[in-house]
Amino acid sequence: MHASSRFRQAIAERQQAQLYRQSALIEQYQGRLLQLAGRSYLNFSGNDYLGLAQSTEVTAALADGALRFGCGSSGSPVLTGFHYAHQALTDEMRDWLQMDDVLLLSSGFSANQLLLHTLPAAQDHLLLDKLCHASLIDAALTAPCSYSRFVHQDYVALGNKLSDQANAWVVTEGVFSMDGDSPDWSRLTELCHQHQAGLILDDAHGLGQCGEQGRGSWADAGVAPQQISALMANFGKALGGQGAFVAGSQLLIDYLRQFGRHYVYSTAMSPAMCWAMRTAVQVCRREQWRRDKLAEHIALFRALARQADLPLLPSATAIQPVLVGDTNKALVLSEQLKQQGIWLAAIRPPTVPRHGARLRVTLSAQHEAKDIQQLINVLRSLW
Ligand SMILES: Cc1ncc(COP(=O)(O)O)c(C=O)c1O
Repeated sequence: MHASSRFRQAIAERQQAQLYRQSALIEQYQGRLLQLAGRSYLNFSGNDYLGLAQSTEVTAALADGALRFGCGSSGSPVLTGFHYAHQALTDEMRDWLQMDDVLLLSSGFSANQLLLHTLPAAQDHLLLDKLCHASLIDAALTAPCSYSRFVHQDYVALGNKLSDQANAWVVTEGVFSMDGDSPDWSRLTELCHQHQAGLILDDAHGLGQCGEQGRGSWADAGVAPQQISALMANFGKALGGQGAFVAGSQLLIDYLRQFGRHYVYSTAMSPAMCWAMRTAVQVCRREQWRRDKLAEHIALFRALARQADLPLLPSATAIQPVLVGDTNKALVLSEQLKQQGIWLAAIRPPTVPRHGARLRVTLSAQHEAKDIQQLINVLRSLW
């Protein structure tokens, strides 16, 4: 079949299955509010958990960084792409995370390819939690070694698989992006220790919102930096910017700097963005009130949702999915919410398992209590 007819058919099938995706054109972003087609909506679908995307301190640093260092980095970090701003951000991150060294990358997606393609040897085995993000699954599919997945947070299954595999790397998220839950850290780290397996952690959704100074979900649970082989997170969620990093021991980062093709053969992060992210990290560390406010909103949402009998998942984080199941029903609910001024996207397969469609509520420090009350009132009336 010619490629264009294959494309047309695949798109038509997607439309028929109610899975066709489209970008909504945001005319104005104001954190808790979005403006689209001239209408304002309460926003419960973003990842700007601390409200840093619009913090005046962070946006001023972006402008200042662009004037001082330029918009683009001009090259690979091993050629002319590593500037003063990259070093400044790296130093801030090392101090914050208490890890030896940090490697900056242009996206979390590519950071995960880098990790799963560069760290394992051919005889190694990758063990992924079944609910790991698409960027980890795609990386595992094309990794230089074998991989398998274990049932989400099933540590008996993980232990059995580890008993069968020498040289394993366990791959997990710190806060799962579609469920909002976290691993049982003591069981996970104990199993990795017992089987001498490496631990690769994607903390994209834990960074900033969890732990002292927002170090992340692992730090919140008392896991020491040395218990994690490679920590990855991106700047596009709680830090309100773009780009990503990998942190770990000096040896591990040196190895990735030498052999990580996604690092060497890719244009380095924008220096202006690095300058902004350095400020975002400083604000995140300093302004505990943002995490306190977020925690208040999570507690309020869960209390009101329970009173309204909404089917919640066991999440203690800013990600609070309301499980719907049926894809069509989730789409209808999302549309009805929209009509009532609430922007809450339906998450459908293949992003979530079949029959696992949901309204993925995300809360932010920027919300106000009345926003959450309004969301629950509307959900209750529609349910
Ligand atoms: C858990 C997780 N890992 C990785 C990524 C990819 O990061 P980026 O958006 O920076 O490519 C995302 C989503 O953005 C994510 O949710």
